Amino acid sequence: MSRSVRLVPTAALLAVALTLTFALTACDDDADTEGPSGAPGLSDPYFPKAGNSGYDVSHYGLTLAYTPDGNRLTGTAAITARATEDLAAFDLDLVGMEVEKVTVEGGTAEYERDGEELTVRPPDALAQGETFQVQVRYSGSPRTITDPDGSKEGWLRTADGALALGEPTGSMAWFPGNHHPADKASYDVTVTVPKDLTAVSNGELRSERTTADGRRTFAWHTAEPMASYVATLAIGRYTVTRSTVPGSSPEEDGLPVYVAVDPTQTAASRKVLARLPEVMKWARDSFGPYPFSSTGAIVDRPEDADYALETQNRPVFPGAPAIELLVHETAHQWFGDSVTPKSWQDMWLNEGFATYAEWLWTEDDGGATAEETFTKLYDHGEDEYETLWAFPPAKPTSAADISDEAGVYQRGAMVIHRIRQAVDDDDLFYDIVQGWAAAHRHGNADTAAFTAYVEKAAPDTDFDEIWSDWLYGEGKPARP
Ligand code: TRP
Ligand code: ZN
Repeated sequence: MSRSVRLVPTAALLAVALTLTFALTACDDDADTEGPSGAPGLSDPYFPKAGNSGYDVSHYGLTLAYTPDGNRLTGTAAITARATEDLAAFDLDLVGMEVEKVTVEGGTAEYERDGEELTVRPPDALAQGETFQVQVRYSGSPRTITDPDGSKEGWLRTADGALALGEPTGSMAWFPGNHHPADKASYDVTVTVPKDLTAVSNGELRSERTTADGRRTFAWHTAEPMASYVATLAIGRYTVTRSTVPGSSPEEDGLPVYVAVDPTQTAASRKVLARLPEVMKWARDSFGPYPFSSTGAIVDRPEDADYALETQNRPVFPGAPAIELLVHETAHQWFGDSVTPKSWQDMWLNEGFATYAEWLWTEDDGGATAEETFTKLYDHGEDEYETLWAFPPAKPTSAADISDEAGVYQRGAMVIHRIRQAVDDDDLFYDIVQGWAAAHRHGNADTAAFTAYVEKAAPDTDFDEIWSDWLYGEGKPARP
């Protein structure tokens, strides 16, 4: 649900300084003079260097090996992409790690590194529309990244292995790619680990085998488009439980469930994880067909991460989750993982819906109604959330605020509830929620697309004041 928000001013300043340094070095890059190249960022309003322009990735094939002893990762990333313009060079994002070799379409490519940018110059320039494969061989000790808000992501070392978490930019710590939510792709993640460990990633486990030297290889496949920030890899000792739950339509059963729990957490999480089928059913009834072909959870130790994350198919929890947190991360599978923000400015669409899912769960469970939760928050929210009225959900003040519990999560949920109040018809409200999830299933969407969708779905309702005051407006909106 909420992640603890700790402001670390030095980390924020450092991030600004680093961004400036990269911006300057990118300008005097003389590689630019040798033909057209993609830009080293997608101009995201909060993370301008994240992602790269000039191509669109369709598939990541990651073949990795990890040894916790010494934190050593070796890997090959085989990236299939389509050039969206003529390219003599293009960038991938990667932080840390050592790059050993890069090929494009099998030919050795020149490359250079500058901060998080790995610039690749293929032996033959790529033509707009061409599909190509770039392979990057790399190795090293993957890094933990400190976010603008002070939290840790990227590659986190744990007591018995590692945990890769990628929101918003951490996935560039463990594989090179186009690390912006706007470029989603399918994945094959094949990981070899010491024989007593398990490697858990997204999607379905295709195979599990022992290598000639006695290690274990786990091959995971994600067919549905996935943003790299919800890609995960958990390596360690896990108690694995496999089962099935009914699929997306009532007739269809057999959606595979893969749950991996750190042995120290099994007792504490047994009860809540037993409710996963119930939560899945409730979420399908509320939000429409489940967008993916498997589900599950990864429960690590509380000290392994500062927050839970909606990693696709299989959310990560640091310790046994409360039922509301399981609901929150499950709701993200629709809102965030399937319908993915176009930029980090649209974070409220993820967190507003996932937080509102908690309000709805509580309401359906016979607890406080969403109306009661909303009213309490409007009247007394400042007591719990100091920054509740500090900025509007669609315009976080800075990159450190995109995960703000008050301004993004709670205010985001308030916007969804204001829509429900305005349409004043729960059938229509749920049609809007499910229609939105269906309209952008497996895609990307921004706030403007959302407001346009709502207006079209409820043509008799005037939403102007909700958008101007609750979504974009400064200060505390007038009582509805
Ligand atoms: N999305 C996570 C959740 O709500 C929390 C989180 C982790 C987050 N890292 C973030 C939110 C970065 C925004 C940005 O469960
Ligand atoms: Zn969330």
